[in-house]
Amino acid sequence: MHIGEQEWRQLRALPGAADASAGSADFHKDLYHRLADREPDEGARREAADFLRAKLMELQSEPAHLPASPSDLLAWMEENTRNVHARYAAYLQDRKAGAPRRYFSNRAHALYVLRGVAPTKLVDGAWLYGLLPHWRNPRLADLVRTYVEELGEGAVDKNHVVLYRKLLASHALDPLDDLDDALYEQGLIQLALAWNAQAFLPEVVGFNLGYEQLPLHLLITSYELNELGLDPYYFTLHVTVDNADTGHARRACQAVMDMLPRLDDGGAFWQRVHAGAKLASAGLGTSDVIKGFDIGREALRILARKATTGQGAHSEYCRIAGRGINDWLAAPEQMPGFVTALEQAGWIRFGEPAEASRFWRLLQGERAEMFGVSSTYELQVLHDWMRGAASADGRPFTEAAPTGGTPKRRATFRAGVRGRGVPAEAAGDPLDPDLTLLREQMRTADDGTRTALLLRAMSPAQHWTPAGLEATRVFWGELTSLPARVPCAA
Ligand SMILES: [Fe+2]
Repeated sequence: MHIGEQEWRQLRALPGAADASAGSADFHKDLYHRLADREPDEGARREAADFLRAKLMELQSEPAHLPASPSDLLAWMEENTRNVHARYAAYLQDRKAGAPRRYFSNRAHALYVLRGVAPTKLVDGAWLYGLLPHWRNPRLADLVRTYVEELGEGAVDKNHVVLYRKLLASHALDPLDDLDDALYEQGLIQLALAWNAQAFLPEVVGFNLGYEQLPLHLLITSYELNELGLDPYYFTLHVTVDNADTGHARRACQAVMDMLPRLDDGGAFWQRVHAGAKLASAGLGTSDVIKGFDIGREALRILARKATTGQGAHSEYCRIAGRGINDWLAAPEQMPGFVTALEQAGWIRFGEPAEASRFWRLLQGERAEMFGVSSTYELQVLHDWMRGAASADGRPFTEAAPTGGTPKRRATFRAGVRGRGVPAEAAGDPLDPDLTLLREQMRTADDGTRTALLLRAMSPAQHWTPAGLEATRVFWGELTSLPARVPCAA
């Protein structure tokens, strides 16, 4: 639970961040934002392509876990699905027999993972974006359809990125600016493919094949989030859309077979599909983020972050172990010592209910002097950190500690929703400057410009906004020869 200053410095060293080939310590994060926040310029696209080439070289000797021949793809996919289902059945059996949760040691752990995988989830589907301009090519039809489904066909309650944004917001898990650079690598790969599809078509097809197969962690994550009273919908949705019968997993196999050259290329395209599939598991995935959780480290990181803003805000009357609070907060490296001093002074009582700690009562509760200083996520981490092993009950910090007797069994998320219903989306047109602009531009555009406007609004940078959602509905309506659900020209 206690971390020394030297260890603290080591822990602050980011996994993978010192990648010499990538240049700066925040290489992945910086390029990710240049590709995700707006339409990237030529320079950013070129850098992304260089990054992909370097990554593909790096992964050359790694196994691709694909069958040797494309003709075995369907059997390979079905075998993977059977295997995952069997392992999930064994997991459920274990749980039924009384085994503890396998992934999330407490509520803070689950929230930490939802934050950690956010850079990837917030660009969900991006790897297919570059195929959109080729939507008339029948060989790409399945992949274009998969992309539009990732976008929820423009429905706000089905767009995967919107769903994840709502999940983050509902638990105050943003902002994400303090996440390690390594957590941006997988999302960066997806964005780099999005903006360079022309040069990396076989890799895009291979990435999609690798990424759309059902992983065991999706099933267990859904189960344990629900158990902790956290909304698992984003994850359960992927269990259903990636299904092996008609879903993205099967379509990904079909897409490879559709795209393989009819002319003899000596197996070059298939080899590049293999290389692309390896990209799907590059970087830190969900399982890595789950394993990487250390509540003591996360609590210290949060306290160190607070120290930067709180330093100087305390009066000289506040003293711990003979030193003023401002002095303790002067350098983040002093946090482990500060925590030890707080514990020795009896301000933090590890292994007891958080409410027993004076430090906790400063942060939370009636007339708490530091009320509002920490987000709900940060409070949950500090709460579970102080409680130690007892936090395995998954209790939210907002819920009063049970007083004597056997604690009540927690309602799952689904049971809670059944009880109170789901609030409806606000009706009416969303107020959004891009939406107004898109409608104006569409009104006067000729056919070619109109398509370009729609495709632009459906990029990873925009598809989750009101303008992007409307563009998706119009595009999909026209593509499937159905009237658009919401006309663009009002
Ligand atoms: Fe998705």
